[in-house]
Amino acid sequence: MLYLKDLTYHPPATPIPILKNIKLEIAPQQIGLVIGPSGSGKTTLLEILAGLAQPTSGNIYWGEQELTSEQLQQLGGLVFQFPERHFCGGTILEELRLGHPELGSGKVHEALNEVGLSSLSLHQAPQSLSGGQQRRLALAVQLIRQPSILMLDEPTAGLDWSMRRQLVSLLGKLKAHWTLLVVTHDAGDLLEIADQCWTINHGQLQTVEAATLGKKAVLSQLG
Ligand SMILES: Nc1ncnc2c1ncn2[C@@H]1O[C@H](COP(=O)(O)OP(=O)(O)O)[C@@H](O)[C@H]1O
Ligand SMILES: [Mg+2]
Repeated sequence: MLYLKDLTYHPPATPIPILKNIKLEIAPQQIGLVIGPSGSGKTTLLEILAGLAQPTSGNIYWGEQELTSEQLQQLGGLVFQFPERHFCGGTILEELRLGHPELGSGKVHEALNEVGLSSLSLHQAPQSLSGGQQRRLALAVQLIRQPSILMLDEPTAGLDWSMRRQLVSLLGKLKAHWTLLVVTHDAGDLLEIADQCWTINHGQLQTVEAATLGKKAVLSQLG
């Protein structure tokens, strides 16, 4: 269970806080979805949860345990927006093993299987894959590290309709094994797989009640 208590992020250079008193809870094997316009603080929130930035105040817990940024770096798996732009392995195998040369072929196949890429050759270049396959490879790169929480920044950005459907369906399947936090400015069909949903505006998070979880309710909260 991921639990954020009154998380605030206010770098000295900014006149107002970027994140304000964020409270959020995600149960294991659930998908949390944060929806907000550009500049509302979504990426910053994920950077803090991935241990890449330090909150100004507030606490982050996994179960009963409060986590430091170092622990968050270990526990979290962050898939950046347009993750394929950051590929640096020459082959799929190299990409999956970057920083983890000890990972055996069993783990490699398991990770590719989870994202539906098991039929690809490990020696293919990541750049030779289709856009949708590259996005799934980026997921496998994080899953192979067995993160406690998988975080995705705008996972459907730039995908065409059919690749988007495939990715949403894959994320829905992944929650059988993983806990996911997805942030997006374009919720669309991600709402169908979300267990919990929040909107974020100017760094303030607001819960969307399950009973009203639907496009209209979300759109009205976003103003
Ligand atoms: N390190 C930083 N220092 C100052 N301002 C920042 C920093 N990081 C992000 N911002 C600002 O914080 C706000 C939220 O940014 P971001 O988290 O990228 O939003 P989103 O991902 O929702 O588009 C923006 O106004 C952005 O300019
Ligand atoms: Mg962003």
